[in-house]
Amino acid sequence: MRTALITGANRGIGLEFVQQYAKEGWRVFAGCRNPATAEALNSFATQYADQVTVHPLNVINHQQIEQLSQALSNQTIDLLINNAGVYPPEQGDELGKTDYEAWVYAFEVNTMAPLKMVEAFVRQVSRSRLKTVITITSKMGSVTDNHGGGSYIYRSSKSAVNIVMKSLSIDLRSSQITAVLLHPGWVRTDMGGPNGLITVEQSVTGMRRVISNLKFEDSGKFYAFDGKIVPW
Ligand SMILES: NC(=O)c1ccc[n+]([C@@H]2O[C@H](COP(=O)([O-])OP(=O)(O)OC[C@H]3O[C@@H](n4cnc5c(N)ncnc54)[C@H](OP(=O)(O)O)[C@@H]3O)[C@@H](O)[C@H]2O)c1
Repeated sequence: MRTALITGANRGIGLEFVQQYAKEGWRVFAGCRNPATAEALNSFATQYADQVTVHPLNVINHQQIEQLSQALSNQTIDLLINNAGVYPPEQGDELGKTDYEAWVYAFEVNTMAPLKMVEAFVRQVSRSRLKTVITITSKMGSVTDNHGGGSYIYRSSKSAVNIVMKSLSIDLRSSQITAVLLHPGWVRTDMGGPNGLITVEQSVTGMRRVISNLKFEDSGKFYAFDGKIVPW
């Protein structure tokens, strides 16, 4: 049975990943900040009790990440999905009104946590068959694609995780781990808002297709949910 560990699994894109992989027969470790209030995730996990377990995981809490790694030390993890992310408040992310504390926080969640997750779970991933690490980034972190300006905090935190994952893909070559960045599209979630162009189902179906077609040579690449390469 294939296994996945997914962060930010209680809503939006993360929850959809949990549901689609479980329905396909995978074992899923679903990390979320606050399991007590994760109603949709808990009710799905109850339905798929043999496959889905919910784990407290605030990705800026490195001790909690280590504890989960310890608890899952005998498991293999075919697919680690760094999905948890934050979009800072609009009014704190425009020129002249920059919220520097929100900027630090966005880096902790969007940039540093994905690396910390890999540091903590690299043993379980390297023991698996698929050996894949996916980090959900954004086209907003693409320098080439930046025609709109602004969004200093979000853009920089995603650009930064792109270079972090690129380095990681090189460092993990010797372990045969494939590390890839994925842009999910503009998705109708709490973060994407109601004007998003696609549903979570479309986004995750597309990203799962990209993931299932990945080869080791693809490590270090930046793809969109539709399989197109995104320019750095
Ligand atoms: N939606 C889009 O259009 C879009 C576009 C490009 C990229 N993305 C990226 O896609 C990913 C998922 O976004 P989404 O649209 O599903 O957003 P969302 O609906 O706002 O969900 C964000 C998820 O991240 C979790 N999270 C935030 N901070 C966390 C922390 N410190 N520890 C653990 N979990 C944390 C949230 O948990 P809580 O419920 O506890 O807050 C929630 O589960 C993010 O990385 C985002 O940047 C989204």
